[in-house]
Amino acid sequence: MDQMKIQGGRPLRGEIQVGGAKNAALPILVSAIVADGPVTFDRIPDLMDIRTLNKILSNLGMKVDFDRKSNRAVLDPRSINTFEAPYDLVKTMRASVFVLGPLVGRFGKAKVSLPGGCAIGARPINYHLTGLEKLGAKIQLEEGYVIAEAKRLMGNRVAFEYPSVGATENVLMAAVLAKGESILENCAKEPEIVDLARALRAMGAEIAGEGTETIRVQGKDTLSGCRHQVIGDRIEAGTFLAAAFATGGEVKVNGINSEFLEPVLVKFEEAGARIERGADHVSLKSASRPKAVDITTLPHPGFPTDMQAQFMALLCLADGASVVTETVFENRFMHVPELSRLGADITVKGKSAFIKGRSGLKGAPVMATDLRASASLIIAGLAAQGETTVSRIYHLDRGYERMEEKLAQLGASVERVPG
Ligand code: UD1
Repeated sequence: MDQMKIQGGRPLRGEIQVGGAKNAALPILVSAIVADGPVTFDRIPDLMDIRTLNKILSNLGMKVDFDRKSNRAVLDPRSINTFEAPYDLVKTMRASVFVLGPLVGRFGKAKVSLPGGCAIGARPINYHLTGLEKLGAKIQLEEGYVIAEAKRLMGNRVAFEYPSVGATENVLMAAVLAKGESILENCAKEPEIVDLARALRAMGAEIAGEGTETIRVQGKDTLSGCRHQVIGDRIEAGTFLAAAFATGGEVKVNGINSEFLEPVLVKFEEAGARIERGADHVSLKSASRPKAVDITTLPHPGFPTDMQAQFMALLCLADGASVVTETVFENRFMHVPELSRLGADITVKGKSAFIKGRSGLKGAPVMATDLRASASLIIAGLAAQGETTVSRIYHLDRGYERMEEKLAQLGASVERVPG
């Protein structure tokens, strides 16, 4: 298993370009299932999760052609001939469950293994299933598989109990081919959902209200092929900004609409950084030492849970005491014991982590436990004095494209050690 070796203590400086958003690319690739012709998606990041998903789609019989150099995926769903996503493919990635809605919407049947993914809580899929049931799908659970069937889905009112990102996307992809109107209420409002709606609209879907609580869909009999370019990855951008701040540097991140990152940018500012916002870039100039700030993760437009671990790494170095409260996932503090190995002073009580900022951290060997926890350890390692080795960085490869190259471009001393 590869490791990342970091010589810390160097301020990051310069510019980088972020890739396409993982969490937009995944549902958008899946949305090809509902098209009736070839689709071309640009800015698909070359990530482990994308490769896993491409295997799941190929396994359905879809023609999948992903050019990793140009980040272009060309998919032809007309050759789909099976409706099953098996356990060995689904087990590593929760987003696999996205195929359920579009498969049942388009072909009237789907069999999908119950998903795995990051170990950050129970992460059930009950909201996905009740939403699809509202559209008329018959759902059964058999031997670890979800089986969904319907002659044709029927438009309906679906009120989500919680604004789940995945459930909103799954049900939206089902509703575009349902008969009649669907009104989805209490939807998640993340920018990635807006991007998915745009991709579906490019196929001819009639959708209104994405990015708000209520999404209205007029179901169509068929949808066409399309072209679409995925938005930039706000979490990748935020990760590099946090790394710049933690190391006392100054970085410009290109390829990201700063509006998507606003809930994080205001917290960087509260901690003393100077931020410059643009339609396609964000810059951060560090303060001499970050000020302590409190954060609470919430669905968008709240502070994103996917930035919690990285922000915590920064707060370990802040002047004063901070409280980080995680309300989205119940088990997302696995980075805490590892950050402590670098000298951080953190106490977890229930949903909150209490952090007493230190003036410095010291390099040590640490282990990544999930995707964003890995990023948090890399940030802490970059800021710490001496050498930090982060093991199990396969977690990092699920969500960051060529991270070590981009960090090196900003002047960091990082090396991937194959293991
Ligand atoms: C998506 C993101 C993930 C991010 C999360 C929250 C993708 C591929 N992943 O995950 O990176 O951290 O949004 O912003 O886009 N829940 C249920 N039942 C359900 C569905 C969810 O109880 O049917 C719970 C989950 O356990 C979790 C919370 O709702 O505690 C939020 O989950 P959700 O918004 O669905 O996140 P994901 O779509 O899994």
